[in-house]
Amino acid sequence: MADLTTNFIGITSPNPFWLASAPPTDKEYNVRRAFEAGWGGVVWKTLGEAGPPVVNVNGPRYGAIYGADRRLLGLNNIELITDRPLEVNLKEMRRVKRDWPDRALIASLMVPVNEDAWREILQRVEDTGCDGVELNFGCPHGMSERGMGSAVGQVPEYVGQVAYWCKKHSNLPVIVKLTPNITDIRKPAQAAKEGGADAVSLINTINSITSVDLDLFAPEPTIDGQGAHGGYCGPAVKPIALNMVAEIARDPATAGLPISGIGGVTTWRDAAEFMALGAGNVQVCTAAMTYGFKIVQEMISGLSQYMDDKGFTSVDQLVGRAVPNVVNWKDLNLNYVTKAKINQDDCINCGRCYAACEDTSHQAIAMSEDRVFTVKDDECVACNLCVNVCPIEGCITMERMAAGMVDPRTGEVVREEYANWTTHPNNPGRCAAE
Ligand SMILES: Cc1cc2nc3c(=O)[nH]c(=O)nc-3n(C[C@H](O)[C@H](O)[C@H](O)COP(=O)(O)O)c2cc1C
Repeated sequence: MADLTTNFIGITSPNPFWLASAPPTDKEYNVRRAFEAGWGGVVWKTLGEAGPPVVNVNGPRYGAIYGADRRLLGLNNIELITDRPLEVNLKEMRRVKRDWPDRALIASLMVPVNEDAWREILQRVEDTGCDGVELNFGCPHGMSERGMGSAVGQVPEYVGQVAYWCKKHSNLPVIVKLTPNITDIRKPAQAAKEGGADAVSLINTINSITSVDLDLFAPEPTIDGQGAHGGYCGPAVKPIALNMVAEIARDPATAGLPISGIGGVTTWRDAAEFMALGAGNVQVCTAAMTYGFKIVQEMISGLSQYMDDKGFTSVDQLVGRAVPNVVNWKDLNLNYVTKAKINQDDCINCGRCYAACEDTSHQAIAMSEDRVFTVKDDECVACNLCVNVCPIEGCITMERMAAGMVDPRTGEVVREEYANWTTHPNNPGRCAAE
């Protein structure tokens, strides 16, 4: 089995799978069992100031979006940072780190934007022997109304300032956890780097209302007839998180800044995708909350197998491998021509491809009287909608036309050479988006 040992900003762990700061990492009991199950590291549930206790709602904290099979696709929460006393958490962290020295233990922190508050908590946390700190500039509800969490992450100046204080007052590696509730994720990442942070992690949860109770006329989860927006996570957010990770990985201003990828990681494949887009490791919350800690064993064996198949001997050979292939639209090769092909042996004649293409796309699928569906190459623009709506995986494929063939739709000869938007004969001049 491939060696999954990971060195992330000097913090080693036996594998790149860390539990994200959330209920799974809320206490010693959980974290010990997580380590026994095989997790490479944990980011402890966010700690706040020693002061007035954090009080959570006593009604439901979570809302969910399901697939047709009631598989949980998205989770929404209105939970705050830890509501357990700081001293109790610190004691537990110290004990756990002592007993599990080979695992990564990171303290997640959230205190007001005030240098003394950060200096004080850093001193207390350093004492636990933890391997690093993660600055929670991400939580979008509750704490943000008090000027913390995403209220900090949305202002790059604050992000840079607090990262700077943390580097000044601590020798621990500093990870800045970013909020996705911002227009351009590159800005806070750049600020974190300028402030001296060792890495960024993303994404924290996305502002959301999952559903509305149509009798109470209130958002769910409903607390005594009212609801508040919460933070959305789980498989549904993975595409947003992947894009944000890639944006930072390919931004020259943050080149080389280590990234911990978070958002919807449920399988080894999800993890490998984050890593290929530049994440040095991944963090997981919803998948553990849905399936339990042992899900990591599948992740470990799947990633090892994949690495063996690819001939990778270290996770570093995977990290960032897809980044050069993330380009701007104008750089896509317009000489790449494909056509949909329906495999008649697999087709169950349901007609969904036909309905979608005929009503909403390019009228490129023909239906015979006996319901045989075929692609009209002279109409097909290769949009992929038929592949996306077909219930049989692999039944419809997009087949590339070889150079020299004539595209029956355009009448043009398919060329071999690369052409970008500005040089393609069909698209002279500037791209509208430029
Ligand atoms: C119930 C719940 C509580 C969370 N609490 C925290 C927290 O205290 N600190 C933090 O940085 N992130 C918190 N998160 C966000 C997660 O760490 C993670 O960034 C997010 O859930 C996306 O990952 P996922 O899709 O694997 O769940 C919480 C998430 C959930 C679901």
